[in-house]
Amino acid sequence: MSPSEQSPSEQSPSQSSPFQSSPSGAPGLLDRVPVVPVVVVDDLAQAVPVARALVAGGLPVIELTLRTPVALDAIRAIADEVPEILVGAGTILTPGQAKEARDAGAQFLVSPGATPALLAGMAETGLPFLPGTATVSEVLAVLEAGWTEMKFFPAEASGGAAYLSSIASPVPAARFCPTGGITPASAASYLSLPNVGCVGGSWLTPKDALAAGDWARVERLASEAAALG
Ligand code: 3PG
Repeated sequence: MSPSEQSPSEQSPSQSSPFQSSPSGAPGLLDRVPVVPVVVVDDLAQAVPVARALVAGGLPVIELTLRTPVALDAIRAIADEVPEILVGAGTILTPGQAKEARDAGAQFLVSPGATPALLAGMAETGLPFLPGTATVSEVLAVLEAGWTEMKFFPAEASGGAAYLSSIASPVPAARFCPTGGITPASAASYLSLPNVGCVGGSWLTPKDALAAGDWARVERLASEAAALG
């Protein structure tokens, strides 16, 4: 069937996406917290306390990046021991990593970019996910594949809030979680945009705070970030 023979709803990828409005009525990934903590865990012992500190600060979502050898075990530990947090896996680069993350207990996936194979691999896990985009053509490719929620990465280097504001009117179906270079000072300018549901950032979980076990500092940073919503 050619596109012109399809009904309007068949032509709209946004209406065919299971995460546009979830069947269960659960909020999509972009509508849970104003700031998604992007976390790099070097030591497995940090995983559970950092997750608990984020929850205590009012941010019950964590994106564990697959950038350290302990990342999958960290996801497993958080999924087992901190059921009140939504734990996801970030830095998904291959379909194989998407499956490994799902098997470790990840409840959502985030990738810095989106190839057709990676999109298919993440979709195959059955988990919600945020594919990375940085250009209008990439955004259109993700919409064509049927997904409306995406990551905008690297946000600051790719044009920042001004860029997302510029594409809100021409590409209204796409909604974003910008990530990369965002600070507590710049977060509000993103969050005020109609096509931004949340931002992502690593500033809530500084490496030195994790190394020192300073969970009170993580909790304070999380509660300041939660107040941005
Ligand atoms: C990510 O890993 O998704 C982002 O790069 C996090 O970016 P930040 O460290 O600049 O917050």
